[in-house]
Amino acid sequence: MKGVVLAGGLGTRLYPLTYATNKHLLPVYDKPMVYYPISTLVKTGIDEILVVVGGPYAGHFVRVLKNGKELGVKHIEFAYQEEEGGISQALSLAEDFSDNSSICVILGDNCTDADISREVKNFKDGALIFFKKVKDPSRFGVGVFDKKGKLIAIEEKPKKPKSNFVQTGLYIYDNTVFDKIRMLRPSARGELEVTDLNNIYLREGSLKSATLNGFWSDAGTFDSLYEVNRYWYQKSRKSS
Ligand code: DAU
Repeated sequence: MKGVVLAGGLGTRLYPLTYATNKHLLPVYDKPMVYYPISTLVKTGIDEILVVVGGPYAGHFVRVLKNGKELGVKHIEFAYQEEEGGISQALSLAEDFSDNSSICVILGDNCTDADISREVKNFKDGALIFFKKVKDPSRFGVGVFDKKGKLIAIEEKPKKPKSNFVQTGLYIYDNTVFDKIRMLRPSARGELEVTDLNNIYLREGSLKSATLNGFWSDAGTFDSLYEVNRYWYQKSRKSS
C-alpha cells in the first residue's frame, strides 16, 4: 500500500510561529513535526509516500525531507495544494499517485507512536478510521454511537459533543475515495471535510473503525504542540 501525508494549509492557528516556515516543519522535540507522520507510515512497511504541501514555504519541505532516504522512504513525491480547500480536497491530489489501489492517509500534524501495521496489512476495502478518547472533543470530528455502541455518524467540531471519541487523522481508504470526494460540497467553513467523506462510507455501510493504541495528538494548536513536545522529550528520557 502507498501512503499520503497531508501537509497543506497555512497553519494560521500557530501565528506567529508559522510566519517564517510551514507548521509541519516546526520542532517536535528533536525532529520536524512532519517526520512523525512519515515515520508512522514507514513503520507499517509503506515506503512510497506522497506529501501534499501548500502555502508560501512549500519549498522548505524539499530541503528538510530531501529524497526521503533518511526516514526510510524509498520513493517520495510532492504535490502542491493551491488553496486551503480542506483535507478531502488535499487528498484528491493523490488520485494519480494512488494508481487505482488503496491508500493509507495521515494528517501532517498528527504525532503518534501507534503501530497500525496489522490494519494496513489486513485492509481489504471500504474505509478504516481510528478513534481516540480525548478530554476536549469539540475541536475534532466526534463519533456518535447508538446504545449498542455502533457508530452512526461523525460530527465535525460540534459545540455539544455526543461522545469523547474523536476521529484521529489516520485513515485507510479503498480507491473509491476519489469518486466519493467528487460527491462532496464545501462545508460552512468552505472546506471539503474529511468528516463528510467518512460519513459517505458510513452511510454506504463500508466504514470500519478501530481504537488507536498508544499516544496520539495533533500538534496544530499551541497547547497540543506543547504537549507533543513534552511527550517525546519524556519518552526519550525514559529510553536513554
Ligand atoms: O487531527 C484530527 C482532526 O483533524 C479530525 O478529528 C477532524 O475531524 C479533522 O477535520 C481535522 O481537524 P483539524 O481542525 O485539526 O484540521 P486542520 O484544518 O488543522 O488540518 C489538519 C491537517 O490537515 C493539517 O496539518 C494539514 C492538512 N490539511 C488541512 C487543510 C485544511 C491540508 O493538507 N489541506 C487543507 O486544506
